[in-house]
Amino acid sequence: LINAARRFSDKPLTVLSVVDSTNTYLKLKQSAHRNGAACLAEAQTAGRGRQGRKWQSPFGASLYLSMYWTFSGGYQAIGGLSLMIGVAVVEALNRLGVEGLQLKWPNDIYLDGKKLGGVLVEVEGQIHDQSHCIVGVGLNIRLPDLVREEIDQPYTDLAQHVTRLPDRNLLAAAVLDELQENLIRFEHEGLAAFLPRWEALNLFKARKIKMLCGSNHFEGVCLGVNKDGALLVRLPDGVKAFYGGEVSVRSA
Ligand code: BTN
Repeated sequence: LINAARRFSDKPLTVLSVVDSTNTYLKLKQSAHRNGAACLAEAQTAGRGRQGRKWQSPFGASLYLSMYWTFSGGYQAIGGLSLMIGVAVVEALNRLGVEGLQLKWPNDIYLDGKKLGGVLVEVEGQIHDQSHCIVGVGLNIRLPDLVREEIDQPYTDLAQHVTRLPDRNLLAAAVLDELQENLIRFEHEGLAAFLPRWEALNLFKARKIKMLCGSNHFEGVCLGVNKDGALLVRLPDGVKAFYGGEVSVRSA
């Protein structure tokens, strides 16, 4: 993975064989708290997914990476950040010739109707009106059979879809590149700059969906997202905006 460092020579890039979690590593490493500082690993022993889930992270089977970024402004400055990260990952894969990707709100990367990867954005602290963020990306490349049995949702890996797998160094470099470019743009233009692209990739566009929020269920038609990154759903009694956090979506 070391070649991924080439375009990032001015940024701290840590490449590790094994780590608990690349997100945790960046969180704890004070010297890496600079925009664009990144961590890549071959395996994670305690990879984390959204909503407290475990992220299976066997050696060399996927891409595990994280990037650090500080935004000036509180939560309003980072609304929809995870949606933009999804767009960045899709664009990196497109650059390497992988087509047919879609995004499932808020930030799952889908291929052929199954999950190919996920994004975990963690806000480390909001000090002096600054938001310190760690964005983590996990992307399945070729998962071993043993791990397949332990994943509790429909998922896929790149190996099932492409005849020639992209070189992992190139893949890591492309994702790091896109992340950095899009993070800079997001800082200046916000989510608005990415919304048309996100809408075009929306897995649920105009489809009937079911929203699960704790013990509440809602069924409606997916209309898209608003400027804060909330999912807009037409329910029988009007349009409702759903914000990230504890909400899960599936097709109805
Ligand atoms: C999800 O879909 O629930 C998000 C998964 C995010 C996994 C990545 S792998 C690299 C980074 N380190 C972690 O511990 N998690 C993220």
